[in-house]
Amino acid sequence: MLGIETSCDETSAAVVSEESGVWTIASNIVASQVNIHREWGGVVPELASRQHIRDICGVVRTALDTAKTDLKALDAIAVTQGPGLVGSLLVGVSFAKSLALSLERPLVPVHHLAGHIESLFLQHGEIALPLVVLVVSGGHTSLYVVKEVGRYERIGRTRDDAAGEAYDKVAKLLGLGYPGGPVVDKRARDGDDEAIAFPTTRMTHADRNAPQAKGDLDFSFSGLKTAVLRHVRQRSENGSPLTSEEIDDVCASFQRVVVTTLLGRVFDAADRHYARSVGIAGGVSANSRLRKDFAERAKRLGIPAYVPDLSLSTDNAAMIAAAGLRNFHAGRTAGLDLNADASLEL
Ligand code: KG4
Ligand code: ZN
Repeated sequence: MLGIETSCDETSAAVVSEESGVWTIASNIVASQVNIHREWGGVVPELASRQHIRDICGVVRTALDTAKTDLKALDAIAVTQGPGLVGSLLVGVSFAKSLALSLERPLVPVHHLAGHIESLFLQHGEIALPLVVLVVSGGHTSLYVVKEVGRYERIGRTRDDAAGEAYDKVAKLLGLGYPGGPVVDKRARDGDDEAIAFPTTRMTHADRNAPQAKGDLDFSFSGLKTAVLRHVRQRSENGSPLTSEEIDDVCASFQRVVVTTLLGRVFDAADRHYARSVGIAGGVSANSRLRKDFAERAKRLGIPAYVPDLSLSTDNAAMIAAAGLRNFHAGRTAGLDLNADASLEL
């Protein structure tokens, strides 16, 4: 299976093979655009799609060469259909459609978040089900329960900002650059996580946009982001901007609230859904405190806990190929009228 991922600011192609149900990553090539977008303090959609066009041929070629295979040997082509930036998605979808047409191979559409969830199976093989998994990235913070492989039931989501987005915004207002996650994570290690009592959010009211759902496993990070903003502003208006040590404290205190909130919901959900395992996937799963606290808490409860390696936690095409294999076996393929869908639901 060739996987293609172009939903945001990474152009990626990967070859994943399957033998007797066991997946092997033959290649996983990622061309990151982070240096292009850093200058602007965030992803610029138009620049992203143009860069995908420049990179896609070389990335696919390198994925095939690294896997020591060629186009003719491929059985199917999987591509991220959505969600993401529509101009970026279109590059991958159009490229995959052209390959499927010219090679006469099935085209397999993949939901980006299904890819993140499958990164856990790709890395760890069989996982005891039900699995409660948190997908946490720059664009998403959602909780799913997987009761059978390839089926994902959403049980919680963010009502406003994604956790990664909150990291990026907090880093920006502290003047720490883009992307925010890795630098806030690093600065937090030197700070006091109890220095500032930032608020935590508990969901006690139904979501106006989804009144049928109970919604108490939902997330909200915009209040926390505003609290950090107010704290920073107050200091600069008083004429005493934060010192470097105080910035470390803000990072540590912010991170404590994010990690505590995320893990609180994960383990609540695990309890409620009789989970036999728990997992975290997506870019923010690279966070050092999240990984550490997650592993410790799961160990205390005696429940197996999974996170992907760093190369499989940020956006990559191997996870898309893996989710593609699931869809392919379930007969979920697409015609050449497949279109990118920026707000595809899972
Ligand atoms: O999954 P991903 O590569 O792309 C999206 O689908 O969004 O996630 C990127 C996000 C960014 O918001 C970035 O700041 C965050 O993941 N991130 C982190 C860390 N590394 C990356 N957040 C917290 N701690 C980290 N170490
Ligand atoms: Zn992602």
